Amino acid sequence: MASDTLTAASARPHAENVWAAARRDLDGLPGGGLNIAHEAVDRHAADPLQRGRTALRILDRTGTAHELTYGELARRSTRFASVLDRLGVWRGDRVATLLGPDPDLYVAALGILKAGAVLAPLFNAFGPEPVRTRIELGGVSVLVTTPELYRRTVEPIREELPGLRHVLLVGPLLDGLLDAADPDRPITRTAPDDAALLHFTSGTTGAPKAALHGHGAVVAHLATARSLLGLRPDDVYWCTADPGWVTGVSYGIVAPLVVGATVVADTRPFDVRRWYRVLDEQRVTLWYTAPTALRMLMARGAEEAHRHDLSALRTIASVGEPLNGAVVEWALQTLGLPVHDTWWQTETGAIMLATAADEEVRPGAIGRPVPGIEAAVLAQGPDGRARVENGHVTVIHGSAQGELALRPGWPSLFHGYFGDPDRTVACFADGWYLTGDVVRRDRDGWYRFVARADDVIKTAGHLVGPFEVESCLMRHPAVAEAGVIGVPDPAAGALVKAFVVLRAGVEPTEELQAELLGYGRRELGAVAPRAIALVPDLPHTRSGKVMRRLLRARELGLPEGDLSTLENPS
Ligand code: PRX
Repeated sequence: MASDTLTAASARPHAENVWAAARRDLDGLPGGGLNIAHEAVDRHAADPLQRGRTALRILDRTGTAHELTYGELARRSTRFASVLDRLGVWRGDRVATLLGPDPDLYVAALGILKAGAVLAPLFNAFGPEPVRTRIELGGVSVLVTTPELYRRTVEPIREELPGLRHVLLVGPLLDGLLDAADPDRPITRTAPDDAALLHFTSGTTGAPKAALHGHGAVVAHLATARSLLGLRPDDVYWCTADPGWVTGVSYGIVAPLVVGATVVADTRPFDVRRWYRVLDEQRVTLWYTAPTALRMLMARGAEEAHRHDLSALRTIASVGEPLNGAVVEWALQTLGLPVHDTWWQTETGAIMLATAADEEVRPGAIGRPVPGIEAAVLAQGPDGRARVENGHVTVIHGSAQGELALRPGWPSLFHGYFGDPDRTVACFADGWYLTGDVVRRDRDGWYRFVARADDVIKTAGHLVGPFEVESCLMRHPAVAEAGVIGVPDPAAGALVKAFVVLRAGVEPTEELQAELLGYGRRELGAVAPRAIALVPDLPHTRSGKVMRRLLRARELGLPEGDLSTLENPS
């Protein structure tokens, strides 16, 4: 079937100028080139009016605020780049961070970029197994972490990682190296297409994937943060995403610093009362958060919210999971502001669909394609993914439901999955990038999220690949086979649940069930299953693959007939 061409009417006007305008507002390296860290810090540090402004305000475990000015952050990250030189790190080498939002994380992340190396962030709540897989997958040669995380997460797998040449431990050791480092090391001259960021993500099948982005992505970070979040230099900005994930880097570090705002970060885990205190005491003006957190605040009721002065807040925005209309209504009533939804993915590198900060919110809808982005809804095949026939997809116009596709050409689109060209190619068809999300578009061009078209699980905003969890469980000597799905949860959207078939002769006892849960927690950390059911067998396709959709339908008590339209449990 021939593909229709999408008219420019579905993207907003002035689309073609958006990226060029944002690029003009960036500095570029002296003498040519583009480097994210230069735009984020050194540009401001060179400006006498901006140098002394607070770039970071980080609340430590006791709640004490540690501040770093743009000038200090620039100096320290330059020294970090020089430390990497001494370790033999070259342009393009992958350097991973396994850190929470501590000052060292920001220094390391920006230093890695200044050195022309590739920043590969790891979530610090991962267990040893996901960390091992990702370090191997990314060919990471240097890791920056804390002594505590090293002992807990890295030491057990260190010998299995011969390619990991150095581990830099933050604390006195790193401080000593920084003090002795070259304070005048120039930023490595990188071009927009040079690799900068390696973000790990998950698919339905196979190992995790490593999406590679270039320094040019900063153009999209700046444009989208300004036009959709409404981010301004005078903002006190709090992005609650962990810096071990793509949101925490792109919109938690890069975008706000490029704009020249003050970034607030909290190193302590989520707590309702404390989050309100942070909003209140730090006088946060722009808050980029996630539906899970908002649902947890909502569950606590309005009283706690009313104890705090939230009058500094100008905008609340959300990302990463479906934003229930009820949460938007609650926020409006209780916090005095609606929640502006934004949609994007690791691969897109920046926000693609959104309700901009200056637009009226429609509860339950994400919004529209952002300026500069052309989106389409594609007809689905029986497997739920876009139907591709003879290399062609079918674009549906007007009000429609189908797989969301985006026309490549924006500056933060991933360059590909590192070392996996086949999986990269599989993301594109007929001139479109296929997102794997099913959406519904209203007659007037507003998009709503319907479901994932594949089996990945979103739990508390984190993407979990069922294959990774199944593979880990199947390494346990008692396990013959495992099938992993997301089951509905009112707070986290979905929880990871495993269905496990035991090896012949192994008794399905409660002790074994508990042992398997503990094993999962130890090996996988944050992505471990929260529930495990021991079952006699699993449903399979004719080719022998576990039918996760059928498991999910059974779990939800849904009819097992048409699985292509099975909506997300969330
Ligand atoms: O299914 C969509 C969901 O999160 C996926 C992307 O996850 P990840 O690659 O981890 O990216 C994190 C950066 C956002 C999407 O394919 N998702 C993201 N935003 C929304 C969403 N689902 C519903 N509503 C959203 N606003």
